[in-house]
Amino acid sequence: MPRCSSVRVLTLSVLVVGAGGHARVCLEILEGSGWVVSGCLSSDASAIPGLPVPVLGLDSELEDRISGGAADVFVAIGDNTVRMEIGRRVLAAGGRLVTAVSPHAVVSASAVLGAGSVVMPGAVINAGSVLGMLVIVNTNATVDHDSLLEDGTHVAPGACLAGGVHAGAGTLIGIGANVLPGTQIGERSIVAAGAVVTGNVDVGVTVGGVPARVIRSGTGPL
Ligand SMILES: CC(C)(COP(=O)(O)OP(=O)(O)OC[C@H]1O[C@@H](n2cnc3c(N)ncnc32)[C@H](O)[C@@H]1OP(=O)(O)O)[C@@H](O)C(=O)NCCC(=O)NCCS
Repeated sequence: MPRCSSVRVLTLSVLVVGAGGHARVCLEILEGSGWVVSGCLSSDASAIPGLPVPVLGLDSELEDRISGGAADVFVAIGDNTVRMEIGRRVLAAGGRLVTAVSPHAVVSASAVLGAGSVVMPGAVINAGSVLGMLVIVNTNATVDHDSLLEDGTHVAPGACLAGGVHAGAGTLIGIGANVLPGTQIGERSIVAAGAVVTGNVDVGVTVGGVPARVIRSGTGPL
């Protein structure tokens, strides 16, 4: 019987931008999906204690790293605006945005996930939903059927979107919020933690409470 003289194992290496708590969770998801994380870049070369990979340098080195061969990049930054800015830099430099889905998430075969998005453990994305680029569906969040989450949206842990919800670009749906069927949320808006959103939300406002009312015209710290 012929013997195999060598076995070639294909490893996929990914560079992560971000080195905080969100990055730590994303690292585990990437590694659980078969990626080898080469290391992280951060804004000041620091990292959350216990990060299991090295910090290789500063975010400002991103383009050089990509031209040096680190073409696959995951942007592990929770702030929607910063994540989108860095994601655009990755694409402009010729890199690829890696999409990460936890093996403990449930994603419908008819759902579409955009480049650079992450679906965390316990999250559910149901039939016909579409996620744009660099979307976060965080731990135990649910996105029901036929919803549309535009680029740079973040659905925080435990938030529930009913069917047919449309979240505009850069929106944050806060921890544990509930959004009723068919609701339209204007881009860059914030839904406060624990809110119940019963009607459409304007662009760039913060809503909170049960039922949700505008608590600030204009976005604030996340
Ligand atoms: C709504 C939110 C953005 C406001 O944060 P902030 O800008 O720091 O504002 P403050 O805490 O100063 O609160 C401003 C007002 O909003 C109210 N408010 C704050 N959070 C609220 C909430 N979850 N529900 C209802 N009202 C809220 C405050 O009581 C305060 O009201 P007042 O002016 O009458 O006293 C923030 O509380 C929140 O819910 N963020 C979501 C965080 C999240 O889920 N992140 C994801 C991490 S993975």
